[in-house]
Amino acid sequence: MNKDKILIIGASGTVGSEVVNLLRNSGHDVLESTSRSVTKEHQIQLDLVTGEGVNKAFDLSDRVFLISPPGYADQYAILSPLIQEAKRQGLKKVVLMTAMGANVDECSPFRRAELELENSGLQYNIVRPNWFLQNFNTFWLKEINEQRKILLPTGDAKVSFIDARDISEVVAKLIVDDNNCNKAFDLTGKEALDHQQVAKVISSEINEDIIYEDIDPSLLRERLLNAHLPKEYVDFLLTILGFLKEGYNERVTQEVKNILGREPRDISDYVKDYKEVWNAN
Ligand SMILES: NC(=O)c1ccc[n+]([C@@H]2O[C@H](COP(=O)([O-])OP(=O)(O)OC[C@H]3O[C@@H](n4cnc5c(N)ncnc54)[C@H](OP(=O)(O)O)[C@@H]3O)[C@@H](O)[C@H]2O)c1
Repeated sequence: MNKDKILIIGASGTVGSEVVNLLRNSGHDVLESTSRSVTKEHQIQLDLVTGEGVNKAFDLSDRVFLISPPGYADQYAILSPLIQEAKRQGLKKVVLMTAMGANVDECSPFRRAELELENSGLQYNIVRPNWFLQNFNTFWLKEINEQRKILLPTGDAKVSFIDARDISEVVAKLIVDDNNCNKAFDLTGKEALDHQQVAKVISSEINEDIIYEDIDPSLLRERLLNAHLPKEYVDFLLTILGFLKEGYNERVTQEVKNILGREPRDISDYVKDYKEVWNAN
């Protein structure tokens, strides 16, 4: 059996889908994971919660990109079996995506997964992206389109938002390039903006006012619970949004430029490319 594929966990997701495109366009043999039924070639079904299908997918692969899907607050429980499987099967390289700030608390689930990978003996890279710009066309889209508002408990804190397409490019490069092995990279955009500034850039692009309102965390909590997110994940999100409000996500790093040799995309690139999604009516 050929063990030479690059397995992308979360291949239909925001980051993973673009990693798949980039790798395939440069001629690599990519295996896309999904928890759903297989519908196309080069796709494999596996379940990150039950572990079903993981062994077979890793058996076909020599490099893997790992994420923990949103909705699970214990990312260690999702990621650890994957790291163990990569080790057991002697994969050539693992690229793990966690989140900026994950390494602040050595006991956090994301950090425990990072430590397990760092100590595994496998060749690896860890990417820790800041908050994605793409949240404005996914998680926060409903309120923007229904109320023309960004409603978040984030005060006037600045965030060096990153365009997820830049994360994908970094991952696609790291996963096949062994020159930068065994390092972790905090990935950010090129400038830090508060949510009011984000609202203004979107408004000016779509020619209609989108307002940012700093809300009480309890209102977001209610909204997320009503959207049927698990309580522990809602608690996790509110905790990290609390850090955001304290200014912990303002830091700008040069890692995207160092790795890709160009500046990260900025917010105006992002809103131009996504403007149709905010034209709700
Ligand atoms: N959003 C942000 O601002 C931000 C910032 C920093 C870090 N992060 C991290 O980014 C990660 C999410 O990445 P993303 O936004 O690219 O993901 P995403 O778009 O939410 O996609 C999640 C993927 O996981 C797959 N999936 C869900 N449940 C699964 C299961 N039980 N078994 C196997 N696959 C499953 C889905 O595919 P199928 O439906 O096909 O199974 C999908 O491809 C999270 O770990 C988050 O902490 C996010």
